Amino acid sequence: MAPRIVLIGPMGSGKTTVGAALARSLSTHCRDTDTMIVEQTGRDISDIFIEDGEDEFRALEKIILRTALLEDGALLSLGGGACLSIDAQSALRASGAFIVYLRISLAQVASRVGFNQGRPLLMGNPRAQWQGLMNERAPIYEGLAHFICDVDNKSIEEIVAEIEIAYELRSKGDIRG
Ligand code: S3P
Repeated sequence: MAPRIVLIGPMGSGKTTVGAALARSLSTHCRDTDTMIVEQTGRDISDIFIEDGEDEFRALEKIILRTALLEDGALLSLGGGACLSIDAQSALRASGAFIVYLRISLAQVASRVGFNQGRPLLMGNPRAQWQGLMNERAPIYEGLAHFICDVDNKSIEEIVAEIEIAYELRSKGDIRG
């Protein structure tokens, strides 16, 4: 059975934190593709990027996503780039999971402490790199999502409550997907 809710969105949007809080609220657990990659390889994400290159990381990520979607889990949080390939988009749509995009502005994400720590794609100028990625990725996140949750200026509790309401509405057929 596929995870019921999948969180997508850019680096720094809070997917891991929101996933954990949502899991607590729903009395379930949340898997995270980055954590699964680290567990499986015994290596840090940034080490894989630096030593093996991004293509190798994306290949691993693809395998992990496929595995995660087959697991009998309840929630899944995806690394920022894990949903971008055509294959990943098809697999996510076919999984039947409720896909939630955590949308955040550059202004909010830039103020987060440790924003670029352990994030190889943001090395150099994190703000410019992040915005450059978002220019390409935002249309994909928006196109995939059944629900877009704007997280700017919201507490974790507010975000979790919004997602739960949207999920219930979707179960009743009031939200597309
Ligand atoms: C990436 C996001 C990261 C991690 C890797 C690549 C991306 O995950 O998978 O550094 O391409 O956006 P988070 O979104 O959890 O930071």
